[in-house]
Amino acid sequence: MFTRVDHVGIACHDLEETIRFYRDSFGFEVCHRETNEEQGVHEAMLRVNGTDDGRATYLQLLSPTRPDSPVGRFLAARGEGVHHVAFGCPDVDRAAAELPAAGPRVLFDPPRPASMGSRATFLHPKDCHGVLVELVTS
Ligand code: CO
Repeated sequence: MFTRVDHVGIACHDLEETIRFYRDSFGFEVCHRETNEEQGVHEAMLRVNGTDDGRATYLQLLSPTRPDSPVGRFLAARGEGVHHVAFGCPDVDRAAAELPAAGPRVLFDPPRPASMGSRATFLHPKDCHGVLVELVTS
């Protein structure tokens, strides 16, 4: 069902400062940036390494465009830190459909457009031991 960890989403207050930290400390370079107005988030994708399926693993830095966005509310409640873990899969629709009926709740059905032209859905964190899990097909 899943072929890799696609990315780890990290919520931060200051996107530029956080980009500098990960670049200067670990050498990760920004390979893509975008703003998702619907979700109220600025994103920066930092490539970490290639993976066996010919794709890659990233850090996804997230800062809110407005305080009442999902990431804005996350920061207010919990502060900076890991926001979600995304698994890459060949077919997100199929992966979501193949979850057992008694499995975790799927938040977006059908999946939505996501970073770098991908499509993604999320699984409810209460059903995944406190982790917001993203399923992504790039
Ligand atoms: Co993500």
